[in-house]
Amino acid sequence: MKKSIITGIGHYVPGNIVSNDDLAKVMDTNDEWIQERTGIKERRHLGKHSGVTTSDLGTKAAEIAIRNAGLTAKDIDFILFATLSPDYYFPGCGVLLQKNLGCDTIGALDVRNQCSGFVYALSTADAYIRSGMYKNVLVVGAENHSFGLDMSTRGRGVSVIFGDGAGAVVVSASDDENSGIISTNMHSEGEFAEELAVQFPGTKLGWSDVMLEEGNTLTPEQIYPYMNGNFVFKHAVTRFPESIREAFENSGESIEDLKLFIPHQANLRISQFVQRQLGLRDDQVFNNIQKYGNTTAASIPIALSEAYAEGRFQKGDLICMTAFGSGFTWGSVLMRW
Ligand code: COA
Repeated sequence: MKKSIITGIGHYVPGNIVSNDDLAKVMDTNDEWIQERTGIKERRHLGKHSGVTTSDLGTKAAEIAIRNAGLTAKDIDFILFATLSPDYYFPGCGVLLQKNLGCDTIGALDVRNQCSGFVYALSTADAYIRSGMYKNVLVVGAENHSFGLDMSTRGRGVSVIFGDGAGAVVVSASDDENSGIISTNMHSEGEFAEELAVQFPGTKLGWSDVMLEEGNTLTPEQIYPYMNGNFVFKHAVTRFPESIREAFENSGESIEDLKLFIPHQANLRISQFVQRQLGLRDDQVFNNIQKYGNTTAASIPIALSEAYAEGRFQKGDLICMTAFGSGFTWGSVLMRW
C-alpha cells in the first residue's frame, strides 16, 4: 500500500506586526497579562480593510509548498482547505484556491474544523493517498482572523490571542516503507459546540431575517467569537495527551523517540502543560505562538514550515502534530519524515 509523505511545505504571514503594546492602545489590556496567560508577544494582522482574503493568504503559502515539492499546480490532484474565516459564507476557499493556482478542474474540499482543521485535512489526505485515489494532495490551513475580532475591551479575552497567516503542504504517494504518515486520529464532542464559537451568520439565528430586520437584534456576543477560556483550557490539556498517546498506540513507535512534537499553537501554557505530562524535553517541542498568536487552522503548517527551515527535524525523524479546538474537535498525525 502507498504511504503519504510530505514533499513540499510553505507558509506566509502578513507583514503587519501587532505587539501587545499596540493592542493596549485600543483596549484595556497589557503586555504582562497577555504574556503571562498565553505566551504571546505579537501577532500578524491584516486588519479589517486590507482587501486581502483568506484564500489570498492560502494561495501564497500553497505556491511555496508546490514549488518546494518540485511540482506545478497542474500536478495537484486534489485540494483540502481548512479555515474558520472563509472569504464567503459559501462557496468555500478550496475552489478559490483552485482558480488562483490555475489547477485543473480537480476536486476541492473545505474543512470546517477550526483549530483542528489542518490535522483533519492531513488525515483525510492520508486516507485518499493510501486508498490509491490521489497522488499529490494539496493541504492548506489559512486564517484571516483580524477582519472579525472585537478590538474593544469587550473582546479582549479572545482578540489578544488570535492572528492571521497561512501554511500549506503537498502530500504525495510514496513506496518508501520507512517514511511517511504512520497513524492519525480525529475526534469530536459537539456537546461543547457553543463554548468556542461564532454564531453569526448561521441558521440557528435565522440569520437572513435578523439581518433585514429594522433595528436588528444581533448582539456583539453573536457576531464576535465567544470563548469560555477556562473551560477550553481544561479540555485542551486532557485531550492533547490523550490524542498523542492514541497516535502512538499500535504504531510500533515510542514517545521517547519523538524528535519533535508540533502542537497546535493555542496557548503556550497549554503546550507547556502537555510537554510536562508527556515528559518531553524542551528540544522535543516546537512553539512559535510568541510571534504569531493562535492562527487556528494555519498554526500547525506554519510551525511545521518554520521548524523544518530551522533544521529541527530531518529525514527519518519521528514527528507528531496534535490539535484541539472549537467543536470541540481534536486529533493527531504521527509521521516519520
Ligand atoms: N487583558 C487584561 N485582562 C483581561 C484580558 C486581557 N486581554 N482578558 C481577560 N481579562 C481579565 C478578565 O476580564 C478577568 O477579569 P476579572 O477577574 O476582573 O473578571 C481576568 O482577566 C481573568 O480572566 P479569565 O478569563 O479567568 O483569565 P484566564 O486566566 O482564564 O485566561 C485565557 C484567559 C483565554 C488566556 C485562558 O483561559 C486560555 O488560554 N484558555 C484557552 C484558550 C485557548 O487556547 N483557545 C484556543 C483554543 S484552540
